[in-house]
Amino acid sequence: MSEGTIQILSNGPAIVAGHIHLVDDQGHTIEKEMPVAICRCGKSDSMPFCDGISEGHMKVCKRMEK
Ligand code: FES
Repeated sequence: MSEGTIQILSNGPAIVAGHIHLVDDQGHTIEKEMPVAICRCGKSDSMPFCDGISEGHMKVCKRMEK
C-alpha cells in the first residue's frame, strides 16, 4: 500500500509527497522525484505539474495570482 500526503495550498498547487504512484489520464505511471506540485489553476504549460512556483518555495503559484 502506498503512503503519502497531498497538501492543498490556498494560493498554490497541491503538493504531493511520500510513496505514491502518480498516474496520468492514460494510465501511465509518471516517474518523478517527490515532492511534486500538481497544478490546480489549469494555467500550467507543463500539466499536470505546476510551473508557477519558485524553486524551493512551494507555497504560492504566481499563475494563481493573475
Ligand atoms: S497551480 Fe497552476 S500553474 Fe501553478
